[in-house]
Amino acid sequence: MPGKRDRKTGSYTHPEASALLRPEVGAQPQFKKKRPPVSYRYDSSLSPALEWDGQNPAREQAEQHIRGILDAFAAGRGRLRPLIAELRDAGQDRLANELEGLIEGDLATGEKAAVALESLSTPFLNWSGKAERLSFEVPTLPLFVHERLSTKAILQTLKGHKRDRQLDLFDLFGERDMALHEKLLKAYEHANGWTNRLILGDSLVVMSSLLHYESMAGQVQMIYMDPPYGVKFGSNFQPFVRKRDVKHNDDEDMTREPEMVKAYRDTWELGLHSYLTYLRDRLLLCRELLAPSGSIFVQISDENLHHVREVMDEVFGGENFVVLILVKKTGGQKGGFIQPVNDYLVWYARDKVLAQGSFVRLFESMSLPDLIAEGFNIVEFPNGDEARLADVKGPNGDSRDYEHFPELFVQEHPDCKLFASNPLTSGGFRKNQSVKFEFKGRSFDPGIARGNCWKHTAVTEDGRSSGMDRLAHANRLFVGKNQLRFKRYSTDFPFKTISNWWDSFGGASNPLYVVQTNEQIVRRCLLMTTKPGDLILDPTYGSGTSAYV
Ligand SMILES: C[S@@+](CC[C@H](N)C(=O)[O-])C[C@H]1O[C@@H](n2cnc3c(N)ncnc32)[C@H](O)[C@@H]1O
Repeated sequence: MPGKRDRKTGSYTHPEASALLRPEVGAQPQFKKKRPPVSYRYDSSLSPALEWDGQNPAREQAEQHIRGILDAFAAGRGRLRPLIAELRDAGQDRLANELEGLIEGDLATGEKAAVALESLSTPFLNWSGKAERLSFEVPTLPLFVHERLSTKAILQTLKGHKRDRQLDLFDLFGERDMALHEKLLKAYEHANGWTNRLILGDSLVVMSSLLHYESMAGQVQMIYMDPPYGVKFGSNFQPFVRKRDVKHNDDEDMTREPEMVKAYRDTWELGLHSYLTYLRDRLLLCRELLAPSGSIFVQISDENLHHVREVMDEVFGGENFVVLILVKKTGGQKGGFIQPVNDYLVWYARDKVLAQGSFVRLFESMSLPDLIAEGFNIVEFPNGDEARLADVKGPNGDSRDYEHFPELFVQEHPDCKLFASNPLTSGGFRKNQSVKFEFKGRSFDPGIARGNCWKHTAVTEDGRSSGMDRLAHANRLFVGKNQLRFKRYSTDFPFKTISNWWDSFGGASNPLYVVQTNEQIVRRCLLMTTKPGDLILDPTYGSGTSAYV
């Protein structure tokens, strides 16, 4: 163990990390170079009210013409293909290549344009300010570095601290209550380059600066965005994590910064319309920042889920929608009707095909009722006897409904095991597998006459025990309806792949912030889509849940 004095501060690194070099930030020469504001343009035609020009007869005619163009393209391609084949047979490769180029080049370009024209007639979401703002300008500002901290130093300092009060993020980033010598000696020892950054500013300006001052386009592997939900536009916001009871539209509750609250309320001057513009602009920049195989998760409640889907379809393309995840956040019900107890996570990829390659499947443990539903409903008693769970009696021989009350079964029969039975036969003839197998004095046939076999060897040529022998020896054979089956115990792998139904965690535990996310949500997004060393971004990170994760 090194003595206290020998402890050196370093940075945590992941040996398997293969991230790109990150640009040095906040360096003085960067600030000297003034950058003009950047304009972002978007296609307003595909756009929330769902609108389409249903009243105009010219539209129907136009649609017919577009259909005609597309049909003609398809017919032309159909006629050219056999011609190309004929030319190739006749050794006329140059002409064949020329026609091939015509199909892949000019025809494909024309077809793409016609498809784009056709999509103009599909319903699109419109809102006040959308058409008026065909492009928007964002000032390109350098991001000044205020502090550089070493995570390891912070953790070492925290370990040494007396934990007589709860620590929050500001403590973690050394904003207060840290002895000066600690700050000087430890926190500033971080080497050049950076690992994590906490940036203060409007997300739009910050993202634009990341793009244009720091060349971060295409470098972010995952974006978790938990924006304001577009409800209660007169609301205050919670500027301090210590005070959580923020009331809607209550000026008494404005704490200390009325200008900040005014700016916040001005942002939503047109209510939902301003909200959609706010969201669309930021999503456009998110798209620029995402790596080709990157993913974005936007958390939203049911009030505006439908609009967020529309806007994201527009920005990322409907084809890049991955899945809608349901996240349970409260169990409580109040009010007259059924109340929603969940939020949604809308997952889009920058490019769904490429994102597939960086997707990591996650598993969660299965509950007892899940296991029963998955077929783990056969019981093995300590003496080796087996029975269907539905037929098992209580300890005194009285009837029970263990299938619906499996916890009671475990309580009353703690020494029993639950298992599922899986098939041991498959199709096809195999010499050492398409033979009968003796088990407990009975002979079992895998279905040799139908051309079937056991999944494992039943005989061997060198006299060693066969696969089926070994299964019998390991107590893994079960006699089902006149056929041998494989015994899979519920304890073998009591996990299932996670689906889009995330109901196992509620809101954040002991939240410091009124809209604090449960860290499990961010953790899952991160684990599914990134590897160590990848960059992630949370443009609306509030109390800092993402940084904590
Ligand atoms: C729903 S909360 C996110 C809470 C966060 N996930 C957490 O765990 O604390 C939305 C956050 O976005 C912030 N926000 C709203 N507009 C913003 C903007 N233009 N730039 C940066 N942050 C913004 C709000 O201050 C608020 O903290």
